[in-house]
Amino acid sequence: MLCFHKNKCSQLNVQKLHRNPDFTLTRVLLPPQGLTSEPSYLNMTVLRTYTLAVVWLILILFLVNHFLDHKSTLPHHTPSAPEVRLRTKTRILTSVVQGRNRTSPRSLRPVQVAEEKQKRNDHRPNDRSKNFSQTWSSKVLEKLWTGNLTVGMLSPHLKNIRRSYLNSTKHEVVYPVLRTVHRSKVQLYCDMKSRTKVRTVDGTEEPFSSLGWDQLVPLQTVQDLHYQKCAVVMSAGSMLRSALGREIDSHDAVLRFNAAPTVGFETDVGNKTTIRIINSQIVSKRKHQFSSSPLYEGVTLLVWDPASYSLNLTKWFQKPDFNLFSAYERRRIQRPEQPFYVLHPQFIWTLWDLIQNNTEDQIQPNPPSSGFMGILLMMSLCRDVSVYEFLPSTRHTSRCHYYERNFDSACTFGAYHPLLYEKLLVQRLNEGNVDELRTKGKVRLRGFSAVQCET
Ligand SMILES: *[C@@H]1O[C@H](CO)[C@@H](O)[C@H](O)[C@H]1NC(C)=O
Ligand SMILES: *[C@@H]1O[C@H](CO)[C@@H](O)[C@H](O)[C@H]1NC(C)=O
Ligand SMILES: *[C@@H]1O[C@H](CO)[C@@H](O)[C@H](O)[C@H]1NC(C)=O
Ligand SMILES: *[C@@H]1O[C@H](CO)[C@@H](O)[C@H](O)[C@H]1NC(C)=O
Ligand SMILES: *[C@@H]1O[C@H](CO)[C@@H](O)[C@H](O)[C@H]1NC(C)=O
Ligand SMILES: *[C@@H]1O[C@H](CO)[C@@H](O)[C@H](O)[C@H]1NC(C)=O
Ligand SMILES: *[C@@H]1O[C@H](CO)[C@@H](O)[C@H](O)[C@H]1NC(C)=O
Repeated sequence: MLCFHKNKCSQLNVQKLHRNPDFTLTRVLLPPQGLTSEPSYLNMTVLRTYTLAVVWLILILFLVNHFLDHKSTLPHHTPSAPEVRLRTKTRILTSVVQGRNRTSPRSLRPVQVAEEKQKRNDHRPNDRSKNFSQTWSSKVLEKLWTGNLTVGMLSPHLKNIRRSYLNSTKHEVVYPVLRTVHRSKVQLYCDMKSRTKVRTVDGTEEPFSSLGWDQLVPLQTVQDLHYQKCAVVMSAGSMLRSALGREIDSHDAVLRFNAAPTVGFETDVGNKTTIRIINSQIVSKRKHQFSSSPLYEGVTLLVWDPASYSLNLTKWFQKPDFNLFSAYERRRIQRPEQPFYVLHPQFIWTLWDLIQNNTEDQIQPNPPSSGFMGILLMMSLCRDVSVYEFLPSTRHTSRCHYYERNFDSACTFGAYHPLLYEKLLVQRLNEGNVDELRTKGKVRLRGFSAVQCET
């Protein structure tokens, strides 16, 4: 066959051809059944024309496929430094500030771990808007690094998505009446330490107690885990070409999210994983191969699913966003030695309260991102926490994940999750300096055990 990329190519061509039952390879290239061994002249001409058409079709499909394939190999190509800078600059936040002038979608594959529920497109800048958005992008990042970014500075696209989510009643969120938005950093740390306790489903409440979950959950609790230095590694596209791998691996514990791989990305993201936070789609959707993928072996796992703000666990058990409960039971029985927990919805919604209590705007009435949950988890378990690319560095582009090619500024600044406000809160807690933020996307946080508060 006419292919360099053997598997993909032949699969694609054959699939496409087979979709039209009257036009399959076998039918065209082999003499149709019933023909004599000496076909007539007319038949030969028809056959030749037909064959030629098929060859052309295959050639076109091949070219299209080759083109797509070439694009998808880009992350492994290592361009020169100026090239990187240029490409990064042009893409940085173009979509954050533009929003309207979208042309072609750059994403070639569907969103795999769709934390944001909607599919969105990336927007290619034209030459004039490139300059416009470059200027804007560095401004927006600078504002975020210094804690001065407001929702009004985002693109119309992002503002609109946020606004449409504000009316969502899905999780039955009730906004708090009192807010204390001007807490100092010390007050904020102390408040978080006293109010945001990590909690997992332990089988003592209905409906889980009736189901015998007190016997199903691991004996050792998450709160029993203690570490000195921890790293929280975001799945952001800006992890690419960061060369942070060695620094990340030097921590005592490393937290990663969902299906974020290390194999093939070691230089940038490291190779050590201690804990993985996954959403309920990972355990329930077949494509993630939760029961067999090595990504989920040899680590502590925490799975979450939102439930409603009222914390009715019976309702949650009957109707989770994605069915995590049977997958949890199955894996606990199959791999009893693996520490595996279900995050309690109370932990999740307390984090939402925390963000809202400390924010002047109304935040989206949706659960916080896994990233934010991971940061708070590690602040509870560790003495020092380094967070990578939660607040984006100058490497930032609209690329959502380092391991996938989909592009959308909403992945950084939030649409479904109240990401912008999470980031502003983490910025307020940062003990590191702005230079580290710029160059590494690194935030340093104190773990709660290192926070002394008068009570
Ligand atoms: C977007 O497109 C409109 C016309 O379609 C144009 O007037 C406007 O300047 C463009 N905006 C940017 C930021 O390029
Ligand atoms: C491009 O942006 C720079 C600032 O970064 C500005 O000085 C320059 O005038 C802009 N050029 C155009 C053609 O708008
Ligand atoms: C906001 O920006 C100003 C300078 O423009 C800076 O002094 C200040 O620290 C920034 N941060 C906050 C939270 O105001
Ligand atoms: C949200 O609801 C309010 C009234 O409850 C309505 O005025 C507003 O237009 C709605 N906004 C959107 C974006 O649907
Ligand atoms: C991670 O990389 C280090 C070298 O940087 C190597 O010594 C170690 O064996 C690797 N660990 C795993 C689990 O691959
Ligand atoms: C919780 O939800 C269940 C099922 O939807 C309902 O029957 C029950 O009354 C709810 N409990 C409370 C306390 O609201
Ligand atoms: C948020 O504020 C309310 C008071 O309005 C308070 O009861 C609650 O404990 C606070 N929650 C967090 C997590 O700060």
